[in-house]
Amino acid sequence: MERLDAYLRDKRTDVEKHLAAILRPQAGLPPSLLEAMRYSLLAPGKRLRPILVVMAAEACGGGDPWPAACAVEMIHTYSLIHDDLPAMDDDDMRRGQPTCHKKFGEALAILAGDALLTMAFQVLAEGYPERTAAACCRELARAAGAAGMVGGQVDDLAWEQDRAATVRERSSQPLPHDRGSVEELEQLHLRKTGALIRASLRLGALAAYALRLHPPPLDVLECLDGYGRCLGLAFQIVDDLLDVEGDAEQTGKRVGKDAARGKLTYPGLLGIAESRRRAERFGREAGEYLKPLGTNAELLLALVPFVLERDR
Ligand code: IPE
Ligand code: IPE
Ligand code: MG
Ligand code: MG
Ligand code: MG
Repeated sequence: MERLDAYLRDKRTDVEKHLAAILRPQAGLPPSLLEAMRYSLLAPGKRLRPILVVMAAEACGGGDPWPAACAVEMIHTYSLIHDDLPAMDDDDMRRGQPTCHKKFGEALAILAGDALLTMAFQVLAEGYPERTAAACCRELARAAGAAGMVGGQVDDLAWEQDRAATVRERSSQPLPHDRGSVEELEQLHLRKTGALIRASLRLGALAAYALRLHPPPLDVLECLDGYGRCLGLAFQIVDDLLDVEGDAEQTGKRVGKDAARGKLTYPGLLGIAESRRRAERFGREAGEYLKPLGTNAELLLALVPFVLERDR
């Protein structure tokens, strides 16, 4: 565990160094936009997704993971900026500081998100040989797009609005428990959070094979993908639990907001104890998927308890 802590600290520093190098002044880039992009991107995030890219690349024998790692973190940060907007979750704190729109206004926050999203694909296109760049762009676009993260966000908001309508209809009656099944919740989490986590692992494999004659073997991709699927689910369950049990100081964002907004969450649907059990079960399943990769996947395996036990 100590080894993992040191590794994570080192890699976080490396990620931030690469991200800072990408967001430099350039002709045509308004300083106010650059400032808003840097404000959110360089704020203290956990950097889980870029670190997954790095770990997956290392499990596949190395290569240059940085363009892919940075691209994923840029997409993730854009999704957070937009997630916090008044039209979405309407949050005022993120990564321990005022949200992008609180600091720079809504218009610039929306545009900073747009710019990070677009630039992520430029970073991939410029960072790898053509074949790998195309494969990475496709992977990331699928994960982040309409049938991936964005689709999950749409459903997340739709449940919230359905719930609000139900509450209005039933006025003071207790909330119905039959709204939303575990399957629906899982589909939601798989897209809104899981897709990008899954893509991070696949991108790491693609990056590792960028200079080889053949793409990553299917069986390796399948192991990483299965791990990513389970880790993504566990990760979002813990995010939901932190909203109930965590504190704003530690998490760097407001807590107690999911229940207040009527979000469809694991603790909301199944209670805290059952949610925790499910997160642990997904954690164990994630570990199972790594078995065929043997010692190459030691760090990915060690990351599972980190995700389950995190307090931010
Ligand atoms: C928060 O993601 C939003 C979710 C998808 C649950 P993280 O918990 O990874 O946030 P940062 O990057 O560390 O700020
Ligand atoms: C956000 O999920 C998921 C994305 C940004 C894609 P949440 O709305 O649960 O994330 P937090 O709790 O605000 O970080
Ligand atoms: Mg949200
Ligand atoms: Mg949110
Ligand atoms: Mg949340």
